Amino acid sequence: MKDSVKHILVMNGPNLNLLGKREPGIYGKSTMEGYFSTLQTRFPEVRFEYFQSNVEGELINKLHEVGFSYDGVVLNAGAYTHTSVAIHDAIKAIQTPVVEVHISNVYQRETYRHTSLITGACVGVISGFGMDSYRLAVEAILQL
Ligand code: DQA
Repeated sequence: MKDSVKHILVMNGPNLNLLGKREPGIYGKSTMEGYFSTLQTRFPEVRFEYFQSNVEGELINKLHEVGFSYDGVVLNAGAYTHTSVAIHDAIKAIQTPVVEVHISNVYQRETYRHTSLITGACVGVISGFGMDSYRLAVEAILQL
């Protein structure tokens, strides 16, 4: 019988360890740790894991690690969104669906943020709802 508990990895890329302190006018005042416990309470049927790294290869290693067993990945790749063919390829290489998220609405910002190299490899993208973007991505994974 298939496990009814869903396993979801929430993964943040570079500079997102500074949430709460980093440009609060754009990214808000909550820390990821605080928000992560809100997510856990909201979805008791989900077993969450959280991973953050500023290092591109570590993000790729984590995708490989979970990508054949987890039910979903919520990925905010930060600035690597706009530059990383390697993260695109890693998402393509795994079986677990990945939802791209952004706290800010990247399309209202600098033009270099309008290009994502990873969207084409993801099941979808959620951008611009503040920290709630992560919750919306979890909802999307649970509907897949
Ligand atoms: C971001 C948007 C990116 O352009 C930026 O580099 C980030 C955060 C967001 O969550 O809005 O680091 O992914």
